[in-house]
Amino acid sequence: MAHSLLLFGVALVSAMTDAGAILTPAYKDPSAPVEVRVEDLLSRMTLGEKVLQLCQYSLGKDINVNNMGERLSRIPSGSGAVIYRGGDRELRNSVQRRMMEESRLGIPLVFGYDAIHGYLTTYQVPLGQACSWDTSLTARLCSAVAQELRDEGIEWTFSPMVDVCRDPRWGRIVEGYGEDPYVNSAFAAASVTGYQGPEAARGDYSRLQDGRGVAACIKHFVGYGASEAGRDYVYTEISDQGLWETWMPPFKAGLEAGAMSVMSAFNDISGIPASACSYTLTTVLRDKWGFDGVVVSDWGAVEQLCRQGYCSTLKDAAAAALCAGVDIDMQSSAYDSFLEQLVSEGRVGEQVIDEAVRRVLRLKFRLGLFEHPYLEPAARQDKGEEMKEACESMAAESSVLLKNDSALLPLRSCRRIAVIGPLADDGDALTGCWRAGADASMTQTILSAVRQEFDGRCKVGFVRGCDVEGNPDRGGISAAVRLSSRSDVVILCLGEGARWSGENASRQHPRLPEGQLRLLKALRRTGTPLALVLVGGRPLILSDVVDDADAILETWQPGTYGARSVAGIISGRINPSGRLAVTFPRSEGQIPIYYGRRSPARDAGAGLYKDGSSEPLFPFGYGLSYSMLEYSNLRVGKAGDGFEASVDVTNKGSLDAQEVMLWYIRDVVAGVTRPMYELKHFERLDVPAGETVTFSWSIDPGRDLSFVDRKGERHLESGDFVIYAGGPPATALCCPLTLP
Ligand code: NOJ
Repeated sequence: MAHSLLLFGVALVSAMTDAGAILTPAYKDPSAPVEVRVEDLLSRMTLGEKVLQLCQYSLGKDINVNNMGERLSRIPSGSGAVIYRGGDRELRNSVQRRMMEESRLGIPLVFGYDAIHGYLTTYQVPLGQACSWDTSLTARLCSAVAQELRDEGIEWTFSPMVDVCRDPRWGRIVEGYGEDPYVNSAFAAASVTGYQGPEAARGDYSRLQDGRGVAACIKHFVGYGASEAGRDYVYTEISDQGLWETWMPPFKAGLEAGAMSVMSAFNDISGIPASACSYTLTTVLRDKWGFDGVVVSDWGAVEQLCRQGYCSTLKDAAAAALCAGVDIDMQSSAYDSFLEQLVSEGRVGEQVIDEAVRRVLRLKFRLGLFEHPYLEPAARQDKGEEMKEACESMAAESSVLLKNDSALLPLRSCRRIAVIGPLADDGDALTGCWRAGADASMTQTILSAVRQEFDGRCKVGFVRGCDVEGNPDRGGISAAVRLSSRSDVVILCLGEGARWSGENASRQHPRLPEGQLRLLKALRRTGTPLALVLVGGRPLILSDVVDDADAILETWQPGTYGARSVAGIISGRINPSGRLAVTFPRSEGQIPIYYGRRSPARDAGAGLYKDGSSEPLFPFGYGLSYSMLEYSNLRVGKAGDGFEASVDVTNKGSLDAQEVMLWYIRDVVAGVTRPMYELKHFERLDVPAGETVTFSWSIDPGRDLSFVDRKGERHLESGDFVIYAGGPPATALCCPLTLP
């Protein structure tokens, strides 16, 4: 009874007994519904207390070089949130104690941190994960990471990043799931489900309240991946059609999976910076999609509205961001400096602040923070072995075999292996960007894994040859050449250092540096068969490399335990099955290049580059296996209200394989022109040696054959479609489908 009165706003003070004695306030009552607790607490707060809930500070050490702001070890009592990397239980609990005991209402802080691909250990980076096409494995990894974070006193993670990206110059391409909106959507949903548990999407937050999940934050809303010319923090030119068709869908998918928060981006969306864009943050996110969770700005994004030329003062920026829909100001100190003043001047209504505070409090109640504000010295759940096994599987499934002339790989009969290259014995590069709490010295290197894999079978020699960057080391190259000349095969490990990708890591030449190229060419001249193993966070331009290697294996940044799987692919213990979720260009001049382009106005042959190929070096969906997998019998038939498509895959080889099937459509004529190919479904299945396995896809016309217009409205038009099944669209099997 008391709760329903509270809900109707009649009695917002305290629950009373019949005799009138004051009981615990409703907001402190864990059995009261969240909305009742939110309203009760809000009604007790002063304006100053409300404003502090909307501020995020940083606490303790952070290793992200882009986050070097003010390090406040004294956070104002009553603050809303902190960025906290973990590792200092005393510090964490003492700050929390101040919030709980020294502030009038005892509202706990929420502690947030970026776990982009792991926390205590790292696993494959998101771009690599996408090449595994194994969303359930990503969900499993995120769920294990959620536990590690909670054990460290972190309840909120700024992950997943679901920015579609079609430009390998942009360093942050590594943090998302590649060039395709559907792939990003599928992995957005999987990560959110992993972090929060599947029940959260249905409004059941018990797992989070029991300390077994963390709130996910899908970022960066929206269009950050369109950064001009691959530079970071810059302008993005985004059409309404592109916004709805390409950049928005992953966010919608993440929200449908229950994401509890969203981060507003740094980029300027065609003249309105994302962190002040009321169309995306309010009209779409709140009004159209009904999101009731928190929007946090990216680091300093409120202050940056001034640098972007949208606001002239920090005070104006505070008003613009809050009114557009940014609830929490990460690190700009705009809200704590100016929001009270803005209310007293009548420039910002207190109801706008109330609405933002409601969302922050809702997050805290849903996370169970009022009941469990402190990090207890509870027994950690040791998930070490489980995590290791999942990380190894992800590295195995996500590595992509790009070339394998004369079936050089797997290495079966050689006696002397030369492991060469600056990335061969470099655990740091494999650990990858955004390593959170992971210790790179724990990461097994490719050299060590190859030695272990071939122990007792082969002699493994090693020469570094050159540095990752800088001038080629002549002495190193000669030593490498000598080793190559007395070996049966060279495994050459080249690529990028860990920090060449990630935030603020744009490169105009996404290529191997000169020194590494010289090493490769010198080794090629020795005539010893050469398998190139690539490590890095972006699709490199490999045109000047591809002919000098007999085999090429892209491993991305496979993480703490990834090397063992790389060695397993080299030895044949693992049959490679990854497919590219991003196109590899031939040259910088082809960028942006992606599979989902619209049909050109003229026939094939017209409009192509006159000075080189117009085709990518390796297309989206590409990836080789050690097995010969034959596709046949693609058919599509009516099934209920939709259609069922199936295709058979026969493993003609002698090794068991896993195969990833990509299903695309072409909508031949539509009211809004459609891409020539649109990915709509994918599946990974075992295909044992000698067997035939059928892959199927249930086509729901409303979901799979419709398209969105520039206003975000869906349309389903009758007419002709083509269904494709395979890897890269250009080589997939196809068959027609007519929607009456
Ligand atoms: C800035 C990055 O853009 C964002 O992705 C990250 O979550 C924040 N810093 C906090 O670390």
